[in-house]
Amino acid sequence: ELRENTTVIVLGASGDLAKKKTFPALFGLHRNGFLPKDCRIVGYARTVMNGEDYLKRISQYIKTPTDEIKEQLNDFLSRCSYVSGQYDKDESFQDLRAHLEDLEHGRSNNHRLFYMALPPSVFKTVSDHLKKNCYPERGIARLIVEKPFGKDLQSSRDLQKALEPNWKEEEIFRIDHYLGKEMVKNLLILRFGNEFFGATWNRNHIDNVQITFKEPFGTEGRGGYFDDFGIIRDVMQNHLLQVLTIIAMERPISFSAEDIRDEKVRVLRGIPAIEPKNVIIGQYSKSLDGSKPGYLDDDTVPPNSRCPTFCALVVYIKNERWDGVPFILKAGKALNEQKTEIRIQFKDVTSGIFKDIPRNELVIRVQPNESVYIKMNSKLPGLSMQTAVTELDLTYRRRFSDLKIPEAYEALILDALKGDHSNFVRDDELDASWRIFTPLLHYLDANKEIVPMEYPYGSRGPAVLDDFTASYGYKFNDPAGYQWPVTSAS
Ligand code: BG6
Repeated sequence: ELRENTTVIVLGASGDLAKKKTFPALFGLHRNGFLPKDCRIVGYARTVMNGEDYLKRISQYIKTPTDEIKEQLNDFLSRCSYVSGQYDKDESFQDLRAHLEDLEHGRSNNHRLFYMALPPSVFKTVSDHLKKNCYPERGIARLIVEKPFGKDLQSSRDLQKALEPNWKEEEIFRIDHYLGKEMVKNLLILRFGNEFFGATWNRNHIDNVQITFKEPFGTEGRGGYFDDFGIIRDVMQNHLLQVLTIIAMERPISFSAEDIRDEKVRVLRGIPAIEPKNVIIGQYSKSLDGSKPGYLDDDTVPPNSRCPTFCALVVYIKNERWDGVPFILKAGKALNEQKTEIRIQFKDVTSGIFKDIPRNELVIRVQPNESVYIKMNSKLPGLSMQTAVTELDLTYRRRFSDLKIPEAYEALILDALKGDHSNFVRDDELDASWRIFTPLLHYLDANKEIVPMEYPYGSRGPAVLDDFTASYGYKFNDPAGYQWPVTSAS
C-alpha cells in the first residue's frame, strides 16, 4: 500500500541517472496517479544552483508532447525542491534534514525513501550521513541503491558491510532495472501459469537456452566509466543473470518476495563458477565504412585497453532439471541492432518419419517490440506432405489494444514505495551471483595475454560467434531461411 506523508529524496540529483531515469520515472508515476498523496521529491547534490535552474534541469529529459502533459509536468514540478550540499559533511545533511522537516510540517509520522543515484565512491559516506542525520524518527525509512554493487565478490561484500550497520535488509532496495521490465515480469506467469510450458521445461526437452543482449551503440561518452567495468560486469553479472535465474528457478511456494528470492538463491547456488574455456570476449573497432569510432578511439579510454565490449559465455546448472543444458549468455555494444531476447531451443524430434525437421524454439522478446513466439513445424497447405516452419505468435502491440508498457524504473520505484521487495536483489542473491562470475573476471584481469577479438562497429560480433554457439549444440537448422514475420506487427 502507498503511505501518505512520504518524501522521496534523490541523492545525486544532478547526475546522469537521475536526469535520464529517476525523474522521468517519478513523473510517470505522478502522471498516472501512483505517487502517494502530498508526496514531495527532494533533490540533493553538490552542484550549487537555484530552484529554477534545478527544475529546468530535471525537466530536460521529460517529453511534453501535449498541453495536458505540460500541465502535468508543472504540477509535478511543484512537488520538487532542491538542496545542495557535500556528500561527507554533517552540516550539509543537517541542512537536508531541516528542509525535510519544513516539508513535513511537524507531522508525527514521516516516511522517507532515499534514492542513491550516486557513484560507488561516495556510497558509504552518504549512507552513514543519512543514517546519522536524516533517518526518520518515526515512520519508515527505505534506501534504493543502484549498481555497481562492487566489482567482484570481495568488493561487493565490503559494500554490503558498509551498509549493514545502518540499514536493515528490509530497508534496502537494490535495483536491477531488468527486473522491472514488463516481459521479465511476465516470465513467472508464462512458466508457472501454463502447463504445457511447465511440462517441457527441463533437460529432457530443452537442448539449449540463449539469452541475448545487443545494443547498436558504443560507449561514446561513457568510456571512462565503462572501461573500469566491461560488458561482463555492466550487464551480464546482473541483468542477464537475473533473466537466467527466473528462467531456471523452481516454482516458488508463493509470489511473495521472500518465496521468490529463496528460489532464485537456490538455483544460483547450483551454478558452478564460469570456466574460461566457455567464454569468448570481443572489443569493437571502427565500423567498416569508417563512420563510427572504435572503442579505443574514445579519448576517455586508455590506449591498449583490453576491456571487453562483447562477451559470449556458457553457464551450467547442476541440478536435476538442468544438468548438461548450456545457458549461453551473449552481450555486446556497437552491434548491428538493438535486441534483448531469450531463445529456448528444444531437442530434435525422434528421427524416422522426418529428415532434418527444424527444432522448436520458444522466443521471448524482452525488447523492443515485446513478444512471445514459438517456432512450430506445420504441414504446408496443399496436396503434398511438405512441412513449413510457422509460428504461434503473441506480439503485444497486436494483441493488446492501447498498449502502454510502463518503464522499468516506474514499476520499481512504485514497488519500493509500497515496500515490495519481489523485484529487488537480496543480499545473499547478490553474493551468489558474484561467486559465479568472480573467478572468470579475475582470470581475465590477470592474464594480460588474453586480448578481446575485434569486431567492426555495427556487425553481429566477433566472427567466431556462430561456431561458438554451434559448439554448445545450438542448431541453426532452418533450410528455408525462416524469418519471424516481425514486419506484419507494425
Ligand atoms: C545499464 C548498463 O545497466 O543497462 C548500460 O549500464 C546498458 O550499459 C543499459 O546500456 C541497458 O538498459 P536498457 O534498459 O536500455 O536495456
